[in-house]
Order: sequence, then structure tokens, then C-alpha cells
Amino acid sequence: MIESGDMNDMATLKTNASGVIRQLRPSDLSKFREHLGRLDIESRRDRFNGPSSDAFVEAYAERAFRAGTTVIGYVENGEVLGAAELHEIDGDGEPTGEIAFSVERTLQHRGIGSRLFQRLIWHAHALGYTQLRVTTHPQNQAMKRLASKFDARLRFEGGETVGLIELEPAEEVFAPQMMSQARFLAA
Ligand SMILES: CC(C)(COP(=O)(O)OP(=O)(O)OC[C@H]1O[C@@H](n2cnc3c(N)ncnc32)[C@H](O)[C@@H]1OP(=O)(O)O)[C@@H](O)C(=O)NCCC(=O)NCCS
Repeated sequence: MIESGDMNDMATLKTNASGVIRQLRPSDLSKFREHLGRLDIESRRDRFNGPSSDAFVEAYAERAFRAGTTVIGYVENGEVLGAAELHEIDGDGEPTGEIAFSVERTLQHRGIGSRLFQRLIWHAHALGYTQLRVTTHPQNQAMKRLASKFDARLRFEGGETVGLIELEPAEEVFAPQMMSQARFLAA
């Protein structure tokens, strides 16, 4: 389970990439679409868990922005070069977020995926999720490594790798921060 102390440790993640990690705005749609379109064949297959046409990727990007998905971007010189997404899985049980990641090939292995993962966890806490799921294929070593860095438990389901991440309840994470802010405002 990811706890607030772990997140503080993660805040020190090192990277040699100079761009910023920020939530994407509605006006970033075209940049997000271009990012997904630039993924090389292998990364695109890993991201979408199978082959995907340009038309599919374009329609996916539009849907993601319309359907209440949280999209975090790695933005450098005004271009989106990496992204992390969180959307709710339909179902009657415990609200569960599905998460997905993409970093363009030339920028992989520089810690950007880890920074995106960290930020997405914060957003998931803010939205009150206590569990997240990430799905990929069993050979995706990069995703498996990334997930294990953040304590995700991986298991196999019908030829897919499904990583489950448990989060502690949001109020335990955010209450102390809100209290210290309140003290600051009262001073
Ligand atoms: C998965 C992905 C987002 C990781 O992004 P990244 O920026 O390379 O990640 P990081 O640089 O933060 O690396 C995270 C860890 O994975 C490891 N890693 C990265 N690529 C790897 C690879 N091909 N094989 C094995 N380990 C790998 C890194 O060494 C690092 O571990 P460490 O900190 O112990 O050294 C990126 O590889 C990607 O976009 N892949 C294509 C799409 C995809 O597979 N998405 C996930 C499924 S939705």
C-alpha cells in the first residue's frame, strides 16, 4: 500500500529531463493527440495493449479529454512528450481508477515515467480512490519495473498483466497538509 511517507520519498525522484509535469488543460488536446501519434510502433503497442491505427489513437485522444479522464503531461518547450492518464472503470464495486502511461522513445529511461506515476498517484488520492489498476502485456518490462517501484502488486489475467495499486484513504494523506495551511492562514 502506498502511504504518505512513501510519497515524500518519491518527491525526491531524480531526472535529467528539463520539462515540467502538469495537468493538461482542454486547450492541450491537440498536443496530447500529437504526442500519442508520435509514439513509435512498439511503444504504441505497449500503451494500447495491441496494434492501433492513427485513426484509433486520434479518436482515443478526443475521448480521453471528453470523458472526465485526468491527463497529466510531461511538457517541454510547449510540446507534450509524455503523459499519464487516470479514468474510472465502470462497475458497481469499489471505485477503481485505470491508469496508463506513455513517454516518447527518445526520452524513455530518464525518470519521466516515474515522475508522471508519482503525480498521478497524488491526483488519485485527491479524487479519493483507494485502488488503481494498470493493464499491459506480460512482456512489458518497463511498465513492470515502473509499477514495482511504486509498490504495485502485479498478477496475470488471461494473457494480460494487471497491476493493482492500493492507496491509503485520502483524508489521512491530505488532512495534515490542510491543517498546516489553515494554521498559516490564521497566523
Ligand atoms: C513505461 C514507460 C512509461 C516508462 O517510462 P520511462 O520514462 O522510461 O520510465 P523511467 O525512466 O521512470 O523508468 C522507470 C523504471 O523502469 C525501468 N525501465 C525503463 N525502461 C525499461 C525497459 N525497457 N526494460 C526494463 N526496465 C525499464 C527503469 O530503469 C526504471 O527503473 P529504475 O529506476 O529501477 O532504474 C515507457 O517505457 C513507455 O512509454 N512505454 C511505452 C508505453 C507503455 O508501455 N505504457 C505502459 C502501459 S499503459
